[in-house]
Amino acid sequence: MKAIVVTDQAAGTAGMMLVERPKPQAAINDVVVQVHASGFTSGELTWPSTWTDRLGRDRTPVIPGQELAGVVSALGYGTRGLSVGQRVFGLTDSYRGGTLAEYVAIEARNLAPLPGDVDFTVGASVAMPGLTAWQGLFEHGHLQAGQSLLVHGAAGAVGSMVTQLAREFGAYVIGTGRAADRQKALDFGAQEFVDLENDALEDVGGVDLVFDVLGGDIAKRSAGLVRAGGTLVTIAGPTDARPAAGLTVDFVVLPDRAQLSEIIQRVRDGRLRTNIGNVSTLDDAVAAFNPKQRINGKTIIRVRP
Ligand SMILES: NC(=O)c1ccc[n+]([C@@H]2O[C@H](COP(=O)([O-])OP(=O)(O)OC[C@H]3O[C@@H](n4cnc5c(N)ncnc54)[C@H](OP(=O)(O)O)[C@@H]3O)[C@@H](O)[C@H]2O)c1
Repeated sequence: MKAIVVTDQAAGTAGMMLVERPKPQAAINDVVVQVHASGFTSGELTWPSTWTDRLGRDRTPVIPGQELAGVVSALGYGTRGLSVGQRVFGLTDSYRGGTLAEYVAIEARNLAPLPGDVDFTVGASVAMPGLTAWQGLFEHGHLQAGQSLLVHGAAGAVGSMVTQLAREFGAYVIGTGRAADRQKALDFGAQEFVDLENDALEDVGGVDLVFDVLGGDIAKRSAGLVRAGGTLVTIAGPTDARPAAGLTVDFVVLPDRAQLSEIIQRVRDGRLRTNIGNVSTLDDAVAAFNPKQRINGKTIIRVRP
């Protein structure tokens, strides 16, 4: 099968290569999915789980990509709940990846049915951002209706999902991002926008919850905005940003079938809009992940035309 591989972490996306690889086999409780569309998250090549297995053993050459939509083509021994020919979408285990390929072996429990009226590119585009937003807002941030939320990168893949879900659940949403992203963030539902290039973040005052996707100095400054009893949730990696009288939660998204179903239902009924910036093919994927100009939104690889 055709697949994208990486062998050198320092090379980043520039080190991606399109090669032939053996088709994967389904292990116990796995399915093999014929991938129709695949996603890749910025930053994935810096995550330790991309390069080793759970015992820390090198697993290069690695096929990256954790997000997919496709059709089940084989079942492993013992696999229940999905059948050959079924449309599915979801997220691989982060130590497994492998969706930038024509086929991927994945635990069945990490997938949910993809309704026939949702395009594969849309399914692949909402798995990672949708689950990350859901878990950050509701499992870790315990968002309540009427609370205020500051979401960084509100026009980005995760931030746009956070914004929409938080609005649906009755929060007051302040989005941030680059100057050029103001209108896009407002279109996704942010009620205010802070341009991090020109505005003073501190002018936001106090909020109940911060959803951080940027880390570093922005996360530290945001911790100072969290009201007593509030939470800073971050997906940007370990941080020492701490609210004076609140919690910091850094977390890594987990696959979850029930949450995937909640997300795709919202896509179908129009409550959730995906954020695709570019759709490319597997043959052109290396160029698509090394764009010459800024792509705002997710790059999705349409693996099968
Ligand atoms: N822990 C987890 O489970 C988890 C899950 C998913 C994603 N992530 C990580 O979360 C981060 C966001 O992911 P994503 O898919 O949402 O990425 P994304 O689509 O690139 O969104 C990030 C947004 O923030 C903007 N931004 C970046 N730096 C900025 C700055 N200094 N000032 C203002 N705006 C800035 C980006 O603009 P530009 O495009 O112009 O930079 C973009 O609009 C990535 O680092 C990703 O690896 C972690």
